[in-house]
Formats: sequence, C-alpha cells, structure tokens
Amino acid sequence: ATTLGAAAAQSGRYFGTAIAGGRLNDSTYSTIAGREFNMITAENEMKPDATEPNQNQFNFSAGDQIYNWATQRGLKVRGHTLAWHAQQPPWMERMSGSALRSAMINHINGVMAHYKGKLAAWDVVNEAFNEDGSRRQSNLQGTGNDWIEVAFRTARAADPSTKLCYNDYNIENWSYGKTQGVYRMIQDFKSRGVPIDCVGLQTHFTGGSSLPSNFQTTLSSFAALGVDVALTEVDVTNASTTQYAGLTQACLNVPRCIGITVWGVRDSDSWRSNENPLLFDGGGNKKAAYTSVLNALNAA
Ligand code: G3I
Repeated sequence: ATTLGAAAAQSGRYFGTAIAGGRLNDSTYSTIAGREFNMITAENEMKPDATEPNQNQFNFSAGDQIYNWATQRGLKVRGHTLAWHAQQPPWMERMSGSALRSAMINHINGVMAHYKGKLAAWDVVNEAFNEDGSRRQSNLQGTGNDWIEVAFRTARAADPSTKLCYNDYNIENWSYGKTQGVYRMIQDFKSRGVPIDCVGLQTHFTGGSSLPSNFQTTLSSFAALGVDVALTEVDVTNASTTQYAGLTQACLNVPRCIGITVWGVRDSDSWRSNENPLLFDGGGNKKAAYTSVLNALNAA
C-alpha cells in the first residue's frame, strides 16, 4: 500500500494523526492529512476548555469542524479528552470537592451525548499519574480517589457504543514506576468490572535512538489484562528512523495493538516543532521516518 492508513489497514489497524482545526484551510496540510491517515484526533478542540467554556454551556463548533472534515472523507475519529487536570475551562479550574465531581460527570454526559454513536473511542481520562506511579495531585484527584472509575462508569452509561480509554505519557517503559501504576489501575478495574476498553500510550519519545526498555512487553502486558492498546500521540526527537520503525513493529507484533496516531502532520505543525519529530517536513515532504513506518506496515 502507498499510504500509511491503507498500509495499516492491511493488518486491520489504523494510522492516524492529530488535526488542528485552524490549519484545515492550509491545502498542503489537509491534502496530506486526508490522503495518509484514516483516524483523526482533535489536537485541542474536544478538550474541556473548548467544549464547555462556561459551566453547562457546551460549544461543539470547533470539535464538529474536525469531526465533519474527517467523516466527509471517510476517516474515523477518536475523542480527546473528557477528564484531565490541564486545559480545563477557568470555571472548572476553580472548582473542588463535590461540586467539581458533579461538574465532571455533567461534562462527560454533555460531551458524550453530542457525539453519541459517532466516535471510535474516547480518551475518558488523561494523564492522571505521577512519574513514580502514584496519583497526580489535581483538583479532580482532590474529589476522591474514585474519580477515575466514576468517569469511566459515567462514560459507559452515556455512550455504550464507543471504546473507553485511559491515556497517558511515559508509560512505554515496562520497568518504569508510572507504567506499573497505570497497569495496577487497569488490572484493578478489570477485576472489579469497572468499564474500560483500551489504554492509550502517548509515545512522545525524547532523545536516544532505541525504544524504551521492553516497549513491546508493555503493550502485550496491558493487552493481557483484556484491553486494546493504541499509540495515541506519537512523536520522536528528530524522527529517529529506528525508533519510528521499532514502535511500529512493536504494535504490529501485539494483536491487540489496534492503531498508531502521530501527534501532527508536518514538523511545523508539532507542539515540539523545534525537534522535527513528525513524518513530514515543514514543506510537506515525506521524511525518512515516513518510509521506515510505511515499510514496516507493508511488511506485516
Ligand atoms: O488558541 C490559543 C490562541 O488563541 C492564543 O493566542 C495562543 C497564545 O498562547 O494560545 C492558543 O492556545 C494554545 C493551543 O495549544 C492551541 O494552539 C495553547 O496556548 C497551548 O497551550 C495549546 O497547547 C496544546 C497542549 O496540548 C496544551 O496542553 C497543544 O497544542 C497540544 O498539542 C497538546 O497536546 C497534548 C495532549 O492533549 C495530551 N498529551 C500531551 C500533548 C502535548 O502536550
């Protein structure tokens, strides 16, 4: 196959990108995005500050722009994200306790009702752990340690048709404390019947040219708990071809690794643009890392 999406589809997987709504008028950008990818994540437009700018006043205009752009081209969409310590609207940042717990539930219900039946998956909770595997302190954590499972139960009831994911960064190295902390939570959720379908490993790789230790073991270990795994926000310092090929191969080697999403189209679109971490250069040309990923997908 000659595009990333079609190549991934040969093994039943997807290859996606984050899209910034403000860039869709750039024809180089939208041409590459529509051609190469078959799964779309809104980079910012479905986050709480975008979708509920004032309490209980929902705004889906920016999210819908991306959703409509994608579905008009036959591309699927992942929702990102419902409950997170960052990019909360100011009114939510100021809240705590039972009022915040209620507001979180109302937010999940409001956003998921709007997109009910339309999205492949939702990142229900994002980045809730510290590097040592303990829970990150935040206003949400302050509402009680059960806030994550309440978010997932609320999400399942709101839209039973979409896959519910926990999403985080620095959970790629199997011997890392944060990875183990997230692993224990997923294990606990599965043992108690808390609804969860998938783990998103953001896969923001910095430095080095080899993969984090036991990356494939991490993927297969999460999968063995009975969840799908996905690489949800991939970017790699200087787009190391060995790391890009290796992360692609690791996903291909794990049957429940369902897809890979890169966090932007061209280097110039990246939140790490000074590190040139993506598959297309600023001019929209395919980089060596693009070829290494495409070849790995085609060899599967
Ligand atoms: O839209 C405003 C604009 O009106 C304003 O003039 C400008 C001035 O600062 O800010 C613009 O908002 C920025 C927004 O991106 C859109 O460009 C925010 O400041 C900026 O903080 C925001 O950054 C985003 C970041 O999440 C915020 O947490 C990045 O684009 C986005 O790539 C990044 O994505 C996160 C994932 O959601 C979760 N995992 C990590 C990943 C990278 O940080």
